[in-house]
Amino acid sequence: MCGIVGYIGKRVAIPILVDGLKKLEYRGYDSAGVAVIDQDKLLVSKSVGKLVALEEELGENYSQSCLGIGHTRWATHGRPSFVNAHPHIDCKQEFAVVHNGIIENYLEIKESLIEKGHQFVSETDTEVLAHLVEEFYDGNLEEAVRKVIGTIRGSYAMVVLSLKDPDKLVAARKDSPMVVGLGEGEFFVASDITAILSYTRKVYILDDGEMVVVTEDGVKITDFQGNPCSKEVYDVKWDAVAAEKGGYEHFMLKEIHEQPKALADTMMSRLKDDRVVLEEVALTPEQLAQINKVYIVACGTAWHAGLVGKTLIERWAHLPVEVDIASEFRYRSPLIDEHTLVVVISQSGETADTLAALREAKNRGAHVFAVTNVVGSTVSREAHDVIFTWAGPEIAVASTKAYITQLEGMVLLGLYLAQIKGTLPQDKITEIITALKKIPEQAKAVLAQESLIKELAQSFVNVEDAFFIGRSLDWAVAMEGALKLKEISYIHAEAYAAGELKHGTLALVTEQTPIIALATQRDVFDKTVSNVKEVKARDARVIGLTYQGNTSLAKSVDHVIYIPETIDELAPLLAVIPLQLLSYYASVARGCDVDKPRNLAKSVTVE
Ligand code: AGP
Repeated sequence: MCGIVGYIGKRVAIPILVDGLKKLEYRGYDSAGVAVIDQDKLLVSKSVGKLVALEEELGENYSQSCLGIGHTRWATHGRPSFVNAHPHIDCKQEFAVVHNGIIENYLEIKESLIEKGHQFVSETDTEVLAHLVEEFYDGNLEEAVRKVIGTIRGSYAMVVLSLKDPDKLVAARKDSPMVVGLGEGEFFVASDITAILSYTRKVYILDDGEMVVVTEDGVKITDFQGNPCSKEVYDVKWDAVAAEKGGYEHFMLKEIHEQPKALADTMMSRLKDDRVVLEEVALTPEQLAQINKVYIVACGTAWHAGLVGKTLIERWAHLPVEVDIASEFRYRSPLIDEHTLVVVISQSGETADTLAALREAKNRGAHVFAVTNVVGSTVSREAHDVIFTWAGPEIAVASTKAYITQLEGMVLLGLYLAQIKGTLPQDKITEIITALKKIPEQAKAVLAQESLIKELAQSFVNVEDAFFIGRSLDWAVAMEGALKLKEISYIHAEAYAAGELKHGTLALVTEQTPIIALATQRDVFDKTVSNVKEVKARDARVIGLTYQGNTSLAKSVDHVIYIPETIDELAPLLAVIPLQLLSYYASVARGCDVDKPRNLAKSVTVE
């Protein structure tokens, strides 16, 4: 949520800042700005809208300064506007601040600063930071920032630039990610590694409660009290190309096509001799024997992956599972203790609610297992055990390859728990693993139907509402299909357990309402077909989805999308792909901004 980048070195800062912001635009894109120190002036340029507007504003004759900060915003406090765009500055225009997060006590601080004569121009919480630095500055920027930290409450990754100290950047982190990139005689600060990947793969990952002073000579990291912190340099494995579009029109389409590889990468090295081997996991059989309940906690798409995980873990490992939305979890005093296993799922590993749920679970004594895509993310560092999904950087706001690898993470975890608990016979484990190994190739076969799905998507141009139905695991996938469609095409879409439609929602079904009916779960196939007939009787247009070779569904629907045969528990890994493509092409046909849908941001690092 919002993106930050800062640069100090020998190169001209502005192109580096803009390039970094481009990589971060997926985190927020309602306005953007940069600030640099140019001789004896603090120069700030901002614009409303996407980054291209800032580029136009900067033109070609931009400052040649080698020190600066930049920000791309996703509005929390104050609507998207020029004055609310970052960087924010103080009254004397000596300090500029970029900030991600929320300053909870900004109103009281603002009032007291106004009483002292400070003049505010924006509606943001961030602006108090610039005025506080101004208030506290006494010749030492680091000390001033430390005093600011002592005054504010909330979450922040912030970077401060000072006209009075034109040789340094000071940054601090609490509950919002921040990394420091180490180049040759140049340094970067950023909210996200992707912003600086083209320049360096060596980073320090700041922990909560740490601040950093970056000069051309080096990096000094301390805690908020000023005690030095020793940190290891982290070598980023992702390459810069992985975060580029690589010839695709949109990141989302590229990421959809990367799924076979992501699936193969995530399972590779974890399947040995028909067993799931999670060498990274510390949970012992003795500890697992004490576990009597599992909670899966996540947000959005990751929560949908959790819904599939529930069925797999219950079915295979015979443990009762509850799936919770992270933003609800900690506010309802969940009944967890040291006998509970809490599984958090998060692509970014930085989602504020998921992180808060993780901490709540740890506080209550639970063992926390994370499934995440970002090595070094806060979730990965705070959980007791981690299964990394090897999807590579996911840039499009709409999650695709991360979701599919989260599903795979659920399969691996379900099997792993079943192995330890001895709840599945080896021949069943072998059958599942054999089927799982085929999934990457089968995913390619689903992708080969892209043109058919593109054609089907054209009929969604003027659609206002759509329903996704399915039973059992198909229902969980239907939820993901509905979310994909609404977030990028702005079509109102809902998912229903197929048997539930007749309890009210059927009243909304007309011939204008496309229904996407998933029918991959063999044990409930006939029942799903009955539900399809109910909507057909109301003249709805139905797109069905089932296994190749199943000819019966075609008799009840208008179009059928086929996926290769697999075992029912693995069907979500294939069934979701046509739904992603359908949403993608519906979005394109409706002229929407696929990768950066309105009002959304990739990582939601505020509550
Ligand atoms: C999915 O398309 C969304 N962008 C969103 O629901 C996302 O899955 C959610 O915000 C959770 O993010 P995380 O996986 O990074 O925690």
